[in-house]
Amino acid sequence: PDYARELLERSTLIIVSNRGPVEFHQTNDGEIATKRGTGGVITAMSAAARFADAIWVACAMTPTDRVIAEEMRQRREALLTIPDLPGFRLRFVVPDTEAYRGYYNRIANPLLWFLQHYLWDTPRAPDIDHETWQAWHEGYVAVNRLFAEEVVAAAAAAPRDPIVLLQDYHLYLAPTFIRELRPDLLLHHFVHIPWPDQDYWRLLPLPMRRAICEGLLANDIVGFQTPRHARSFLNTVDANLPEAEVDYRRREVTYRGHTTRVRVYPISIDPELVRAVAESEDARRHREHLEAFRNEYTIIRVDRAEPSKNVVRGFLAYDRLLEKHPELIGRVNFLAFLVPTRMEVAEYINYLDEINAVVGRINAKYANAAEIEGIHWEPVHLFVGDDYPRALAAMKFYDVLLVNAIFDGMNLVAKEGALLNERNGVLILSEGAGAYQQLGQWALTVSPTDIEGTAEALWQGLIMPAAERAWRAEQLRRHVVEHDLRRWLVDQLHDIADLRAERAPHRLI
Ligand code: F6P
Repeated sequence: PDYARELLERSTLIIVSNRGPVEFHQTNDGEIATKRGTGGVITAMSAAARFADAIWVACAMTPTDRVIAEEMRQRREALLTIPDLPGFRLRFVVPDTEAYRGYYNRIANPLLWFLQHYLWDTPRAPDIDHETWQAWHEGYVAVNRLFAEEVVAAAAAAPRDPIVLLQDYHLYLAPTFIRELRPDLLLHHFVHIPWPDQDYWRLLPLPMRRAICEGLLANDIVGFQTPRHARSFLNTVDANLPEAEVDYRRREVTYRGHTTRVRVYPISIDPELVRAVAESEDARRHREHLEAFRNEYTIIRVDRAEPSKNVVRGFLAYDRLLEKHPELIGRVNFLAFLVPTRMEVAEYINYLDEINAVVGRINAKYANAAEIEGIHWEPVHLFVGDDYPRALAAMKFYDVLLVNAIFDGMNLVAKEGALLNERNGVLILSEGAGAYQQLGQWALTVSPTDIEGTAEALWQGLIMPAAERAWRAEQLRRHVVEHDLRRWLVDQLHDIADLRAERAPHRLI
């Protein structure tokens, strides 16, 4: 850590992500309210920004963000400080709305998101038609270019040596454009989502996948969540850029005279921060309210409501559990905390509808059974909304936590649950989640499409003997505490420091 601290003292981190640490909204009485951004990228990079001099480059996403960005432009101010978040300085990228729609609603989500989570319904969709190509050129490419220009401007104004930390799949092309303008900048890019097998990438037209590989290879370091994703990336580069020299042993690629290191940094949570939210007044209030929804056995899940999380199959498995074990009727509750996401993209809206429909069907199916027993019982309770303290409050009391994502870069819910749960609850974890490679040995494993197997895992989770539950929960907790977010960050900083030292051996770092 000292090594990393020294680097931080000399550097300005330029964090670059589509979504920024906060978004602004106008309240009914005309005041401007600040809302913290949600998701893994924000949580992780907010923690990074606490330790260092940092500037965050992100898109103006809400109408109020755009108004603020425009006022700043008129005042010729580039950086926005955020009153309730000391240390944060924000630099907006402001694409026009059509370009943003193409970039975010057509290319990043669903195209890349679905591709990288193996979710393409290949016999039918997606068709890469002229509109997709237009969204690529006028949306994805154009917005990535805007990001690059902002990064270069931020680097030029940085008080210390800039280190550029690019985040995720929205920004695959930005490194190419940054390099054109500033070949000397140190570029580090972390991919938070899975990197599928090179054959699957063939579904994307060759010019697109080549541009994506080239973009990532314009970085000095590219980080992935798991060794498997890193290996797939090397294979994909090998298959699509014949001119690239791929060194599998050293995990390096040399392309057009530039070498990129490919590394693995499994992301994690900040236990202190997560505990602080879970102990907050807000969370306590939710905890009291949620007591009414608990039962002799309580299963929970916490997810963004989107297809990669496999929510519908989770409910089908629960239905199957109740069919096979009618003795559970009236004695088990499934609480699902779902955050709506990307609500302008048809696939995500439809998925939320599907979730509502399946929950309705299950609750209706068992309404009679419960009445016969003379009890009022709803097997599933759906909590839809973006309420992090409420989700953390629920994590404390589950008997089983279901994480059955089809594919997932990491899945931080599994780690938050392991940290917070107070009942030695059992984790059911999909093989497709990045977290499986770290936590799988202490969880009950499920194949995400196996409804029968998931039903069985739910049952095993509910009836597991106390000693075994306690042992598994303890191992999970220990692993999460020892492999925390700070470690994720410090590992990356070490690699950056090594690189700097190699490039400029006369300097200390
Ligand atoms: O890595 C995936 C990610 O970028 C996470 O930060 C977060 O879970 C999610 O996607 C955020 O998505 P969006 O910004 O589109 O809501």
